[in-house]
Amino acid sequence: MTVQMRRRCRRYCLGRAAIYLLILFATSSTVICSYHFYISVFSEQLNERSQIFIIDEKDLEDARIKPAKNIKLLHEDYFNTTNLACPYPKLTIDNSEIWKYLDPVKTSQPDCEKSTNWVYVDNGTFRLSPQALQKHGPIVCAYRPILRAKDDFSTMEGARLFPVFDKMPLVSDFFRADCRARDGSFYSNIHSGIMFDAGLHMRHIWNPMVKNHIGYNVLMFGFDSVSRMTFMRFLPKTFSYFIKELGGVVLKGYNIVGDGTPAALLPILTGQTEQELPEARRGHEGAKTVDQFPWIWKKFKDNGYITQWAEDLQVVGTFQMRLKGFNEPPVDHYARPFYLVAESMRTSKPYCFGSITRFQAMLNWIRDLFQMYPNQPKFSFVFHAQYSHDSNNALPYADDELVEFLKLMNKHGYFDNTMLILMTDHGARFSSLRNTYQGKLEERLPFVSMRMPKQFQEKYPHLMHNLRLNSHRLTTPFDLHETFQHLFEFHSPDAYQSKTNRSYSLFQLIPENRTCLQADIEQHWCSCLDWNNISIHEPIIKEFGKQAIAFLNSFLSDAKNQCAKLNLHRIHRANQLKTNEDLLKFVDSSDKDGRVPRFRNNSLENSWFKNLTLNQTKYYQIQFETIPGHALFELTAEYNPLSDKFLIRKKRLSRMNKYGKTSACIAHKRPEFREICYCSNLLNSTRKFDTVLVDAVIKNEKKIIKIKNTGANSSSLHR
Ligand SMILES: *[C@@H]1O[C@H](CO)[C@@H](O)[C@H](O)[C@H]1NC(C)=O
Ligand SMILES: *[C@@H]1O[C@H](CO)[C@@H](O)[C@H](O)[C@H]1NC(C)=O
Ligand SMILES: *[C@@H]1O[C@H](CO)[C@@H](O)[C@H](O)[C@H]1NC(C)=O
Ligand SMILES: *[C@@H]1O[C@H](CO)[C@@H](O)[C@H](O)[C@H]1NC(C)=O
Ligand SMILES: *[C@@H]1O[C@H](CO)[C@@H](O)[C@H](O)[C@H]1NC(C)=O
Ligand SMILES: *[C@@H]1O[C@H](CO)[C@@H](O)[C@H](O)[C@H]1NC(C)=O
Ligand SMILES: *[C@@H]1O[C@H](CO)[C@@H](O)[C@H](O)[C@H]1NC(C)=O
Ligand SMILES: *[C@@H]1O[C@H](CO)[C@@H](O)[C@H](O)[C@H]1NC(C)=O
Ligand SMILES: *[C@@H]1O[C@H](CO)[C@@H](O)[C@H](O)[C@H]1NC(C)=O
Ligand SMILES: *[C@@H]1O[C@H](CO)[C@@H](O)[C@H](O)[C@H]1NC(C)=O
Repeated sequence: MTVQMRRRCRRYCLGRAAIYLLILFATSSTVICSYHFYISVFSEQLNERSQIFIIDEKDLEDARIKPAKNIKLLHEDYFNTTNLACPYPKLTIDNSEIWKYLDPVKTSQPDCEKSTNWVYVDNGTFRLSPQALQKHGPIVCAYRPILRAKDDFSTMEGARLFPVFDKMPLVSDFFRADCRARDGSFYSNIHSGIMFDAGLHMRHIWNPMVKNHIGYNVLMFGFDSVSRMTFMRFLPKTFSYFIKELGGVVLKGYNIVGDGTPAALLPILTGQTEQELPEARRGHEGAKTVDQFPWIWKKFKDNGYITQWAEDLQVVGTFQMRLKGFNEPPVDHYARPFYLVAESMRTSKPYCFGSITRFQAMLNWIRDLFQMYPNQPKFSFVFHAQYSHDSNNALPYADDELVEFLKLMNKHGYFDNTMLILMTDHGARFSSLRNTYQGKLEERLPFVSMRMPKQFQEKYPHLMHNLRLNSHRLTTPFDLHETFQHLFEFHSPDAYQSKTNRSYSLFQLIPENRTCLQADIEQHWCSCLDWNNISIHEPIIKEFGKQAIAFLNSFLSDAKNQCAKLNLHRIHRANQLKTNEDLLKFVDSSDKDGRVPRFRNNSLENSWFKNLTLNQTKYYQIQFETIPGHALFELTAEYNPLSDKFLIRKKRLSRMNKYGKTSACIAHKRPEFREICYCSNLLNSTRKFDTVLVDAVIKNEKKIIKIKNTGANSSSLHR
């Protein structure tokens, strides 16, 4: 009865119409219900007002989401990308070439067991679920710890505990529970949690942090093989929440530096590439385990941090498949033994641990770390591959649970002193995608983003400014590592100095002239676009000139009585933004270590390139001269081959020579026309008083005549 009431009540609360019904059927319970309704609406509004986030308009445009009330948009001009040596390519989430190869799951969750797991973990204690107790009566369980054996490739079982009861403290992070209920039913499953460890709780006291450290937790969560575009395609709720309600910053120019997951993660975690690190490949002479690498988590540990690292799909373990793995557990809470066991079990539901998804279990394990160590600094890196490794199609399963996780962490205040990094290692690498133009670029441009605590955003506006400008500049995994290093010197009185030439902390302003060469990115991975000269006689350029003039005249249409109709005099120069040929020719790596690139043959190259880029959005830039007035303009525009249209915007137009008094007739009333308008009255009077006017014009534009030699003269005015 009461359950039914509550359910109906909730439904009423949803619509405004419900309010009227509520008035009609006012009973004591509905009155309480509407009270709650108003309270929640009111407090949401309050929240909105107090939480103003500054957001990059581009992130909303790219993901096709609408702005909300509580945000302040940063527009294109803020980022000032016109002089970048490395502009990143424009990609679109609805590109049909890519969608041909995508077939996302249709349901929001994988199909797991219906009946709730009997066992769960709550802050380091073993718990029996109330639902199971209610349904099955008293339950007794056996607890078998899952432990790491001698290396990364074997596990063992610890001493069996029996019977274990509700609220028993865990004796291991991972365990198998076998339970039996009074009603005769059984339960068997494996679970993960964070065991209480008194020593770890004291670490920050024995190994205190260096004085200049900022002291934030670091939480890095990632997916395997997901591009920035696919992250927005398949995780729209998470993306939207991360941007709009957490104020995250997405590094749109983040470029990979090598092939595969180790090439993506090693630079983040060690600051070096696999080639620069000691030999650790199996079957190679002198190879040792990866323990000796300069892992960043060692540095965090030495500064009192509790460390956590997990990845699923242990058969393709990042440091265990080609490399020899760890001899000693590298972090305090290390999930490899758990996934070794989990992924060797036979199951008809590979995405589930009983009633919960494996993905949820992974997220819970992060939550458990934050619960267990509320006051200790933490470094956590958790990497999920199951939904996205073989194809990206199961990734939508992650959206609901991930957004709920972020909300929960935020609600508990865990993000108030945490640097949150949501990331992926690289885009999808399937050969079908690698054969498309956008696919090639997406592979090189993963999703990497950073969110600093609200308080940080307010306290260090200049660092946020740098981070935001950097989000449109070329960045690399080396920079993430450098940023970790920066945390240790954050409060140092001197400005931070990068440890290497190739990397910058993301809080430093990355120079506009940074190129792939300086960032140590090989040409075939480099997604930067270059301005290439093209002939002004190309049909496309002629068309661009025509559309540019049409744009100018339509822009002036409000003032056509005052301003002369403009005509194209000449195009001086034309450029096109292009990806480099090595990138286009790259097929795959010809060795299993991903070190030797294989390029496409030279034959048929030109027609093949043309074909590859045929339907892609292109950028063109022209410098052109208009008459009357010989104004010189530079214009950059996007060209869509499918619609055969240039997208021309005023803000991408700049006047190269002086306009002097040629727009005097309108300059006062409509200042926005100054650079474009050539006043018709100058024309009319020219006809009447030829010589006088020429004199006047020459005086007004004297400088230009000297420098540019494009000043008006009497004969050209009549053309
Ligand atoms: C953009 O950067 C250039 C230097 O590259 C600078 O001269 C210009 O003032 C900047 N514009 C804005 C709006 O910050
Ligand atoms: C979890 O347990 C630890 C260790 O007993 C304790 O310090 C911490 O406060 C607990 N966390 C919560 C959220 O109760
Ligand atoms: C950085 O570059 C400078 C000049 O090119 C060079 O002298 C120096 O050795 C480089 N430093 C490192 C750490 O590579
Ligand atoms: C890049 O710009 C900086 C100043 O911002 C300058 O010192 C440096 O020499 C430039 N590098 C190149 C390669 O042009
Ligand atoms: C591009 O064209 C301009 C103007 O014609 C010329 O000055 C420049 O050297 C050319 N650059 C290249 C790389 O061809
Ligand atoms: C082109 O590819 C074929 C086989 O794929 C190979 O035999 C040939 O040597 C290649 N040519 C060049 C110029 O690389
Ligand atoms: C160009 O693309 C078309 C259709 O996408 C295809 O049929 C044709 O073989 C391609 N040509 C080359 C040279 O790759
Ligand atoms: C370009 O787009 C058109 C229309 O969508 C399509 O028919 C054609 O196959 C595409 N060409 C290539 C090379 O993708
Ligand atoms: C200039 O001449 C045109 C026709 O030639 C006329 O329509 C226009 O009103 C004149 N403007 C001025 C300011 O005299
Ligand atoms: C005037 O313009 C014409 C045609 O544009 C040009 O041939 C002539 O050299 C110009 N005279 C001066 C003085 O600039």
